[in-house]
Amino acid sequence: MRISILGSEAMYVCICNAITESQVRQAVEAGAEDLWDLQAATGIATGCGSCKETAADILREGRSRRRHFEPQVYVPSLA
Ligand code: FES
Repeated sequence: MRISILGSEAMYVCICNAITESQVRQAVEAGAEDLWDLQAATGIATGCGSCKETAADILREGRSRRRHFEPQVYVPSLA
């Protein structure tokens, strides 16, 4: 459900708890690793649960993007 308020548009992914897609993405960027982390950070999927799959999709997408930008650590060989 998209709601436009004063020209800015918000996509609600959890209607029960009024959680927006932006809030979920921020929680993933802040380090949420699984649905429990998202629930603790945002309260998503703690009502009827119908948003659980969407939350999982956003989580998967965000985690793969985050991994892509994580710095690689080079450990030189001693041999
Ligand atoms: S829509 Fe998210 S818990 Fe109901």
